Amino acid sequence: MSKSANVVLHKAAVTRPRRETLNGHRSVNLWFTGLSGSGKSTLAHAVEERLHLMGCRTYVFDGDNVRHGLCGDLDFSIAGRSENMRRIAEMVKLFVDGGVLSLTAFISPLQKDRQKVRDIIGAEFVIEVYCNCSLEICEQRDVKGLYKKARAGEIKNYTGISSPYEPPENPDIELDTGNTPLLDCVNRIVDELRRRGIILN
Ligand code: ADX
Repeated sequence: MSKSANVVLHKAAVTRPRRETLNGHRSVNLWFTGLSGSGKSTLAHAVEERLHLMGCRTYVFDGDNVRHGLCGDLDFSIAGRSENMRRIAEMVKLFVDGGVLSLTAFISPLQKDRQKVRDIIGAEFVIEVYCNCSLEICEQRDVKGLYKKARAGEIKNYTGISSPYEPPENPDIELDTGNTPLLDCVNRIVDELRRRGIILN
């Protein structure tokens, strides 16, 4: 709910379609969701690398990074995660308008928050990518050592251990990131962007 009174939207003359024409690609958001350690950030950055080499304007928002700045005041409670999603979605909305192909790597554990994200950004601009990797594999990888701490009770509300993760029921793209080589996952996403006419080359 907005608390700002007496603010009037200014209509820009340089619009998203004009920026898209200039860029030679459409602007959408690839919303990666999945457990911690499921490969969201790795994949988002690998896709960005490919798109960048193809001449696309891109930007990756990553949970761990954003929580150092814009969302540094938020915890991992259900309310904290929900506010995290809301802020990122508002930011992504501006990036879509700005002609950028954004990639967001957040656990985004709850169905209702992912729906809210689509409502804020506009469902037609969001491609949901489910990084489906079992808890067992994520825990085996434990790149940051956080699962071990969560099991030991040193971290509370840890997704998959002591806080829920609701898998998407109908993701646009589902990848078996526990067993599929990174390159195959990147190709799958880039192919889908081509199929949808978001990128042309
Ligand atoms: S989200 O649930 O709000 O979407 P986000 O993607 O921003 O989470 O941050 C997840 C990252 O924060 C994890 O990859 C992990 O490194 C770190 N982290 C720290 N505490 C937790 C926790 N309690 N649950 C999940 N991730 C945590």
